[in-house]
Amino acid sequence: MADRYDFGLVGLGVMGRNFILNVADNGFTAFGNDLDEEKVNALIEEGGDTNRVNATSDVSTFVNSLSTPRKIMLLVPAGKIVDVVIEGLLPHLDEGDIIIDGGNSFFTDTDRREAYLKEKGINFFGAGVSGGAKGARKGPSIMPGGSRAAYQHVKPVFEAVSAKYKGEPCVAYLGPKSAGNYVKMVHNGIEYGLMQLTSEIYDLLKKAGGLTNEELHETYAKWNAGRLQSFLVEITSEIFAQKDDLGEGHLVDKILDKAKQKGTGKWTSQNAMDLGIPVPTIDIAVSMREISALKTERIQADELYNRPKPELLVKDSLISKAEQALYFSFIITYAQGMHQLADASREYGYELQLGEIAKVWRAGCIIRAALLADITEAFNEDNTLQNLLLSPSFVEKINETVDAARELVTYGATNGIPLPGLSNALTYFDAYTSSRLPLNLIQAQRDYFGSHTYERLDREGIFHTEWEE
Ligand code: 6PG
Repeated sequence: MADRYDFGLVGLGVMGRNFILNVADNGFTAFGNDLDEEKVNALIEEGGDTNRVNATSDVSTFVNSLSTPRKIMLLVPAGKIVDVVIEGLLPHLDEGDIIIDGGNSFFTDTDRREAYLKEKGINFFGAGVSGGAKGARKGPSIMPGGSRAAYQHVKPVFEAVSAKYKGEPCVAYLGPKSAGNYVKMVHNGIEYGLMQLTSEIYDLLKKAGGLTNEELHETYAKWNAGRLQSFLVEITSEIFAQKDDLGEGHLVDKILDKAKQKGTGKWTSQNAMDLGIPVPTIDIAVSMREISALKTERIQADELYNRPKPELLVKDSLISKAEQALYFSFIITYAQGMHQLADASREYGYELQLGEIAKVWRAGCIIRAALLADITEAFNEDNTLQNLLLSPSFVEKINETVDAARELVTYGATNGIPLPGLSNALTYFDAYTSSRLPLNLIQAQRDYFGSHTYERLDREGIFHTEWEE
């Protein structure tokens, strides 16, 4: 047993075990804690050398085995458990120790915990960790928020274990209080949007182009070698190649079309509504998971209504348009998420650097994509940029691809193929780029029935009209 270990981790599930082994691989000594003896023993065995990686189910032994200030990361399910673990640790901690919540905690919970622990002299970080189990083992993207001064103690470990993009670590101090959890929440909202769009394009290629799974595999693989290069496009390509172990054909065709969710996408949408920032592509991605869950009703309704039989399109031209439409709608989804972050930063005092966030997302996380290098550049060039669509470097990318999105949305509507993510992205684009919208009429209606007043284009002031006279 080592004298004192550099890093502590509570919660030795798959994520926790992988993260701690990653810490040890990078030259730090690490100590794990879990109530489950089996998980403790599994880690000791996998760690190989207890001078490097050790574990216990006893909280006091755990805390007393760590060097000070202690750096204790929690990788436990978000919610009440985080509070229970914190309460268990508290009696053993000293002033200046650091607790890092690496789960997908709701950001207001992080603010509450941070304030509570600050009173006790304990530094609390909410650090989003993205990349799934493999990422935790080989290099995740990490989004920490909390005390800037205390971050100096955590930084060497996080920079060593994180994913690297051209040698640069995919972790950075993002801001005070819940900034890290907030950024991770929006990351997940974007993740929902990109996943929805990827699945719509799959539907289109299958129904309008008659692509087989082999062809889908090849198409997504080819896209992944170009400007659409991203983790989600890459795994989508691999999914189409997967044969079914339990029967004939491909696994993807046997999977029930009901998507589950743990809530982070919904939180992104809910909070965007609170802030008054439109993120319709993320909203619809959440709604589509909800519609997907209504499988029994969908089957019933399918029998009641006639749906047009999709007209087959020329494959090559469809594939090319689909690539453009996906690229267009990916940009719009990132634009919405970044817009939300910019506003949240002002509202919650996070002082977020959007260029830094895009940088942290370039590798390791689920939404990593070649596009993030361009997004990083756009925000580095102008860190006051309100929306990616206002960046000159994105105007060309959008102009080049928007027509394909229009064509496919029209095709989807005529042929009864639901493309809600794509059409929302397009509508968002058309609305955001319209200097004049018809919402003057809404103002007139509000004033008509409720004397809610309106402003005018041609003069200053607040006006009300007696419409009925
Ligand atoms: C990540 C993911 C992860 C998330 C899953 C599942 O960044 O590694 O975002 O944190 O938990 O993607 O999310 P849903 O169950 O809500 O789809």
